[in-house]
Amino acid sequence: MSKDRNGEEIALEARTATAARMFSPSAARNRAPIAEVFLKYMPGSGTIVEVGSGTGEHVAHLAAAARSLSFLPGDPDEASRASIAAWTAFHQLTNVAPPHAIDVATSGWQAAFSPCEGVVSINMIHIAPFAAARGLIEGAAALLKPEGRLFLYGPFRRNGAHTAPSNEAFDASLKSRNPAWGVRDLDIEIIPLAAASGLSLVAIEEMPANNLSVVFEKRLRAI
Ligand SMILES: C[S@@+](CC[C@H](N)C(=O)[O-])C[C@H]1O[C@@H](n2cnc3c(N)ncnc32)[C@H](O)[C@@H]1O
Repeated sequence: MSKDRNGEEIALEARTATAARMFSPSAARNRAPIAEVFLKYMPGSGTIVEVGSGTGEHVAHLAAAARSLSFLPGDPDEASRASIAAWTAFHQLTNVAPPHAIDVATSGWQAAFSPCEGVVSINMIHIAPFAAARGLIEGAAALLKPEGRLFLYGPFRRNGAHTAPSNEAFDASLKSRNPAWGVRDLDIEIIPLAAASGLSLVAIEEMPANNLSVVFEKRLRAI
C-alpha cells in the first residue's frame, strides 16, 4: 500500500504491470472518451500540468493525440512515477516531461511550475481528502494563465444527490476505506470553490459509467 507524507494511504485503482509500466483497466476503458472531451475543450497549444497521473496511461494517450501540447505529469506515488516515465519512453513521446512528485494537498504546490495553459486531474479528488480537491482547484487557479483551463474527470454528486446507484455504492466503499474520501458534490462543493478561486464553469459533459468531465476557465480578472 502506498502512503503519502503523513503516512495516510494513497489510493491506487486496480493495476497490473509489465516491468515499470502499470496497466489500469479503468484507464484502458475511459482514456478514449476522456481524450475526446479533453481535445474539445482544452487549449490546442502550450503546457498542461497533470495532477495524480497514476499509471501514466492517460497522459501517454493525450500526448500522442495532441502533439502541439507539452505535458508535465506527476504523482506523489513513486511506483506511479516510474510507470509514467516508462509509458513515456515506451511510446517515445517527446512532449511529456519526467514526472513530478507534487501532492496538491501541500500548500503552494503550484510554485514548482511556470504559468501554464491547462491543468488536468482524472479520478483523483474523490479518492483523497477534500484538502486535495481544494488544493488542486486553488493551486490551478493561481497557476493558470488568464483563460487557461482546468479539466476534471470522475464521479460527482449533483445538488446533494448521487446520480446513480453505482456511484452511491462507490462513495460508500471509498468512505469505508477512509472517511475523508468520497464522491464530491459538483454543485455544492466544487463549482463554488472554483468560482471563489476565479474559475468559471465552461462545460459539464456526461461520460460513460456515470462519470463527468468538468471544464473550468480562469477569468481574465476578478468580477
Ligand atoms: C485513482 S488514481 C487515478 C490515476 C489516474 N489519473 C487514472 O485515472 O488512471 C488517483 C491518483 O491520484 C494520486 N493522488 C492522491 N492524492 C493526491 C494528491 N494529494 N496530490 C496529487 N495526486 C494525488 C494517487 O497517487 C493516484 O495515482
